[in-house]
Amino acid sequence: MYRSMLFVPAANAKAMAKAPSLGADAIIIDLEDGLAPEQKDEGRAAAIRFLRKNRNMKIPVLVRVNNDKEGILGADIRAISPEQPSAILVPKVESAEILHKIKGQIKSILHGSGKAVPALWAMIETPLGLADLHNITSNSRLFGLHGLILGTNDLALALGCAVKPDREPLFSHLAQIVLQARAHDLVAIDGVYNNFSDLDGFAKEAKQGKTFGFDGKSLIHPSQIEPANLAFSPSEEQIKHAKAIVRAYSYKKNAGKGAINVDGQMVERLHLQAARDLLAKIDKGKNSK
Ligand code: COA
Ligand code: MG
Repeated sequence: MYRSMLFVPAANAKAMAKAPSLGADAIIIDLEDGLAPEQKDEGRAAAIRFLRKNRNMKIPVLVRVNNDKEGILGADIRAISPEQPSAILVPKVESAEILHKIKGQIKSILHGSGKAVPALWAMIETPLGLADLHNITSNSRLFGLHGLILGTNDLALALGCAVKPDREPLFSHLAQIVLQARAHDLVAIDGVYNNFSDLDGFAKEAKQGKTFGFDGKSLIHPSQIEPANLAFSPSEEQIKHAKAIVRAYSYKKNAGKGAINVDGQMVERLHLQAARDLLAKIDKGKNSK
């Protein structure tokens, strides 16, 4: 589950200490924009300490490295890969080639160590990244890409579009991320909500992300975790409907039928599968607690 993915700036000692116990589905230790240039070395060292101390954490821990063409990428990858994060999150991805290159670097760093090669995640947050998205995702198996995170702050700036509460100027890009993620079996994560003191606004935006089909949202503050987990969990209504579908198909009169009537709605076998998947997911969640 990736309903809530919390960014934690690596150089913020207080936030790093709190992060494991806050209830997020995943943590993203940030070495990139959450750190000032002079904090990069300190942040890298703190990320390593965190990964060593929290090796048995039950939730995924990603590390967002720098991708700024000035050699920091190489330094981050060399330092972080041997520490076995769940994944490395590459920001400002604009081509399949960069991910291919990074995977190659990681493999050669870990060669002969017996250590597992971490998965890659990509942040899509530039016009070029969006324009090349199909090429990036259709090659995702080559470099073990696991998920996409839409970087809405960088993207809006680069596009020069208005930043509006309803996010209308970003609609086609939100849909594009979900489309490409579904086409290539990747996790799709929505961008951050900057105004962390406005929880009503956050809840609305999280619900909108869920409506678009995202699996979860990237977060900047602990107060956003609970509302994100709620927004990206199935609602009572959805669970009730899924149970009604499974029940209806179990009746003798519906055996061998394709389309049937459930509470005045047409339901087909594809809905039965979706209902079973949803209920199985909930069961899995309960059993893993
Ligand atoms: N992860 C873990 N803990 C966090 C946190 C985070 N992202 N953001 C805040 N906290 C902690 C604070 O350390 C503080 O703990 P304390 O009570 O022990 O002092 C507590 O939550 C309350 O924080 P608050 O005072 O409301 O906010 P702040 O002024 O300390 O921090 C931000 C505000 C925006 C600077 C901070 O939330 C942050 O850095 N967020 C992440 C930014 C980031 O990663 N950006 C890059 C990706 S877009
Ligand atoms: Mg960014």
